[in-house]
Amino acid sequence: MIELTRRATFSASHFYWNEEWTVEKNEQVFGRCARRNGHGHNYTLEVTVAGEPDPVTGFVVDLKWLKDVMEREVLDAYDHRHLNMEVAEFAKVIPTTENIAIAAWTRLAGVIGQGVNGTAVAQLSRVRVYETPEIFAEYRGGQ
Ligand code: NI
Repeated sequence: MIELTRRATFSASHFYWNEEWTVEKNEQVFGRCARRNGHGHNYTLEVTVAGEPDPVTGFVVDLKWLKDVMEREVLDAYDHRHLNMEVAEFAKVIPTTENIAIAAWTRLAGVIGQGVNGTAVAQLSRVRVYETPEIFAEYRGGQ
């Protein structure tokens, strides 16, 4: 088995807020990130698939196909969006880097690894979301 990773970037706004808490508690825990108009990040999404190279093409997965899947399933939903206000899965879930990675995994897992006409295909192995070059969250599915 070998893993193959593709990277893409998107820009989005967010803020951190827990509706169960008071204004003071939100400001205490989240600091500037609690400012309700939000702030932006240039995120990097890394998607890793795992499988065996096809004996004919040498590909684990067609990289153009993977690019299109990432574009359609994640970037089209997240890029140039206010995540809290415009993306359904973050209406009640705080769009931290961790939660964005889990949500991107959920979106991609519905498409990657499903196969076409019963053919064996690469499996989704890992999703990383970088909020800055220094900070990323990684999700491999499961608990
Ligand atoms: Ni932020």
